[in-house]
Amino acid sequence: MTWKKIAEKNEISVGKGKAFKIDGKQIAIFNQDGYHALDDLCVHQDGSIAPGKLDGDIVECPLHFWHYNIKTGELKDYIKGVKLATYPVQLKDDGIYVDV
Ligand code: FES
Repeated sequence: MTWKKIAEKNEISVGKGKAFKIDGKQIAIFNQDGYHALDDLCVHQDGSIAPGKLDGDIVECPLHFWHYNIKTGELKDYIKGVKLATYPVQLKDDGIYVDV
């Protein structure tokens, strides 16, 4: 377990995502029904999913509209069995931590 502080509290608005670089990875954190962390780069053409539109647990990649479940990382269209890596997230007194 390597918990690292990735963001300040309140840095990510409810219903939105934000991308962060940490340890050579680019991770998207979404604040939707709690915090969720997953790899930010879409498997299609490396679009950043963090600014994508959310509909419940599903985020839409802004580039060509592929969809992922933000809780499981699962790609919802085109290719079965593809998942972005997900990471545990913890809200602590001094910020948002991710286990990378
Ligand atoms: S880069 Fe995400 S759908 Fe094309």
